[in-house]
Amino acid sequence: MSDIQIDDPVIAKQTPRADFTIDQCWDEYTAEEHEVWDILYHRQIEILADRAAPVFLDGLKRLELSRSGIPDLARLNKALKALTGWEVVMVPHLVPDEVFFDHLANRRFPAGRFIRKRSQLDYLQEPDVFHDIFGHVPMLAYPVFADYMQAYGQGGLRAAKLGRLKNLARLYWYTVEFGLIQTEAGLRIYGAGIVSSAGESRYALEDEKPNRIGFDLERVMRTNYEIDDFQKSYFVIESYEQLFEATQQDFGPIYAQLGEDETAYTSSEVLAKDNLLKL
Ligand code: PHE
Ligand code: CO
Repeated sequence: MSDIQIDDPVIAKQTPRADFTIDQCWDEYTAEEHEVWDILYHRQIEILADRAAPVFLDGLKRLELSRSGIPDLARLNKALKALTGWEVVMVPHLVPDEVFFDHLANRRFPAGRFIRKRSQLDYLQEPDVFHDIFGHVPMLAYPVFADYMQAYGQGGLRAAKLGRLKNLARLYWYTVEFGLIQTEAGLRIYGAGIVSSAGESRYALEDEKPNRIGFDLERVMRTNYEIDDFQKSYFVIESYEQLFEATQQDFGPIYAQLGEDETAYTSSEVLAKDNLLKL
């Protein structure tokens, strides 16, 4: 559990349930908090119009996330449940791995309640409601990705038992958080960590520095990542079906292999076998 203090009185006054969830208490968000959402929303939507994956933009629309202010879960969940059976639940702060996986395995996405301060629009001590809802939830409105996220939760519980969380976490990082997809219109972003960041949305697609490498499951599971900086490598899928199918196989043998040969790659290195994409 995190010992970072989040300055949100509505979180502070609640005792989380056994599954770590709390109430959103939507009526108790301040006008300032809603305004911060609007500022972030408008900034991102401009940047993402021709950078985000069509599936992401479509999810935003279907869930009516363009409505002003922090979304009310009562409304959002009605729309999301109707589309894919997922719902968003609120948590006070990052939750333990198994709690997180258990929520995903049951089609519940844990989201932070608090929102960052206006004075720190680009600084995140941990995921806030903007990152979690704007960044993650649109993809959950798309059936193939919704199934992938549930399977990931089930896989997480298993990886924890097998002691391979490190490898599975890298898969989440390089797909759910920082994934790129090749589309007919060009390279597009679907990862929540990118779509919720103004700087990285441009950097991931347009900067010459990072590597953009064709997705390879075992390669990803061996690759370290940066948590305090823009990514040095992005992995590019060709379709969500490709990602879903690659992860449907039994990871048991792959974990056994990874246990025997712990070779890991730095976040910046390029291997001879990599399918390196040119801009
Ligand atoms: N197929 C994986 C396993 O056997 C589970 C998984 C599915 C993991 C989807 C991640 C994403 O453990
Ligand atoms: Co996230």
